[in-house]
Amino acid sequence: MIIAVDGPAAAGKGTLTRALAEHYGLPRLDTGILYRAVAAALLADGADPSDAQAAEAAASTLDLSRFADAELRTSGVGEAASVVAAQPRMREALLLFQRAFAARPPGAVLDGRDIGTVVCPDADVKLFVTASAAARARRRWLELRQAGQDVDLAAVEADIERRDARDASRDAAPMRPADDAHLLDTTEMDIEAAFRAAVAIIDAARG
Ligand code: CDP
Repeated sequence: MIIAVDGPAAAGKGTLTRALAEHYGLPRLDTGILYRAVAAALLADGADPSDAQAAEAAASTLDLSRFADAELRTSGVGEAASVVAAQPRMREALLLFQRAFAARPPGAVLDGRDIGTVVCPDADVKLFVTASAAARARRRWLELRQAGQDVDLAAVEADIERRDARDASRDAAPMRPADDAHLLDTTEMDIEAAFRAAVAIIDAARG
C-alpha cells in the first residue's frame, strides 16, 4: 500500500506520517529532507540555490549522511530548499529514488508536495493535509524553539507563507491536491485527532 501525504509547510505531515507508518507497518520517506539536503549542500559549497546546474549536480550526488537532521530543519535551509525545488531538472534527479522507495513491497508512506500528483500518481490513498497559516506558524515556532532556535512568531508565519506561495506557483510539480486526494484540515485538531481522522480516511478508501 502506498500512502501519499502532501500539503503546505508545517502542516504536521511529519508527525502524522510517522504515526501512520508505524500503524500500518510501512517505511516512511520524508521527501522534504531530500530538497533540504540539496539546498544545504549548495549553501555549504557557497553555491547559489537558484543555480540550476549546481542544484542538479547536488541532487545527482546527494549524500544524506553529510548533514545532521537539525542542520536541515532550520528556516534558512527550508527557504533555500523551496528555491532549489522550483528547478525541474533537479526534481527529475530525485524522482527515481522516491519512486523506487515507494515501489518496494510492502509499500510506503511518503510526505511532500507532489507525491499524489507526480511521484506516486497511482498511490492507494492520497491525503492533502492543511491547517490555517496561523496554526501552522505556531506549530513550527514551537518546534523551532524546542530545537533551541530563537525565532519570532510573525517572522515564522511570513516565512511559511512566502514558501507556500513559491511552492504552489512554480511550473515544476507545483504543490496542489491531486484530484483524488482527501483533504484533511487539522487547524482545530491535535496530533491524536489528526491521526484518527487520517486512519478513518485511509481505512475507508481501502474498503
Ligand atoms: O517541513 P516543511 O513542511 O516546512 O518543509 P519540507 O517538507 O521539509 O520541504 C521543504 C521544501 O522542499 C518545500 O518548501 C518545497 O519547496 C520542497 N519540497 C518539494 O518541492 N517537493 C517535495 N515533495 C517535498 C518538498
